Amino acid sequence: MSAEVKTILAPMAGYTDFAFRAICRDFGVDLTVTEMVSSKALVMGNALSHRMLFRESCDRPAFCQIFGHEPSVMADSVRLPEVAAYDGVDINMGCPVRKIVSGGDGSALLENPRLAAQCISAVKTALKDKPLSVKFRLGVSDSAGAVDFAKTCADAGADFITVHFRTRKQMYSGSADFSLLQQIARVGIPVIANGDVATRRQCLQLLDMGASGVAVGRAALGRPYVFAQIKERAFRFDVLAAIERHVQLLLKVFDERVVVNEMKKHVSAYLKGKRNGKSVVVEVMNARTLSQILTPCRVFFENNPNLRIEEQ
Ligand SMILES: Cc1cc2nc3c(=O)[nH]c(=O)nc-3n(C[C@H](O)[C@H](O)[C@H](O)COP(=O)(O)O)c2cc1C
Repeated sequence: MSAEVKTILAPMAGYTDFAFRAICRDFGVDLTVTEMVSSKALVMGNALSHRMLFRESCDRPAFCQIFGHEPSVMADSVRLPEVAAYDGVDINMGCPVRKIVSGGDGSALLENPRLAAQCISAVKTALKDKPLSVKFRLGVSDSAGAVDFAKTCADAGADFITVHFRTRKQMYSGSADFSLLQQIARVGIPVIANGDVATRRQCLQLLDMGASGVAVGRAALGRPYVFAQIKERAFRFDVLAAIERHVQLLLKVFDERVVVNEMKKHVSAYLKGKRNGKSVVVEVMNARTLSQILTPCRVFFENNPNLRIEEQ
């Protein structure tokens, strides 16, 4: 089958930094989304939130994901130049993390569709012609309100929605249940299907059910070439070169201490499943400097040159 699958790199806090997004670009991802940033922190001028919005010029189109629950604050945040530099905005209405929900943000808005609609319409007005998407889960503990919530998003001005087909209660357990996809797709705005997507075959099934594209999260971690696999395109991925590039890119914005911490997660993902990779990951987890991260990786691939390249 030659169907074109539109792919999005799903936002993942702590992972979809600008460097990882740039690396995914090499493998044909169609749209990337930043890690979630607090609209309030942005408006208050929080330096880290602003730094999180740095972006490589190759990373286009990319959306900035914001969270919040105060319509005017959210609208103000998307007028800031750092956010306006993005090609569109995504509002997080799905995050299940207690700290976020207790602040009235993320999936708390699933329980308050009126306020959700006010947030969407305020942000849409502020964005003018730029696209706005909303990302949400099926519901809090069941999916009974999912279709209505999708309608709420459409009526309030969202241009498309990304649905993680799990409830908040499920967190990441069980598997995504796409049985409501067809109904949600009838709401009239494009629906991006999300949850456990990793193969082209799954993607084609989801497109058949009415999805306009797919958002891939965990399957892309350490495997940015998943987008080329989904699109059935040839690719060559040099794992060590990716680790080195990831480090070099992050150093443009963050100091060594921060880069060391960020790279621990990424190296662990890049080496996941590689024979004897675990001992390197253990070493990397204890690293305090970048050379304590890069040296064991280089030695590992010198000793295992056959594990360095993934290609199709
Ligand atoms: C570590 C991690 C961080 C995440 N951070 C965000 C986030 O910042 N914003 C968001 O909307 N979803 C976030 N998610 C949810 C993902 O975008 C996605 O909806 C979820 O992982 C299901 O897709 P997957 O099975 O392809 O991973 C996160 C998920 C993970 C695993």
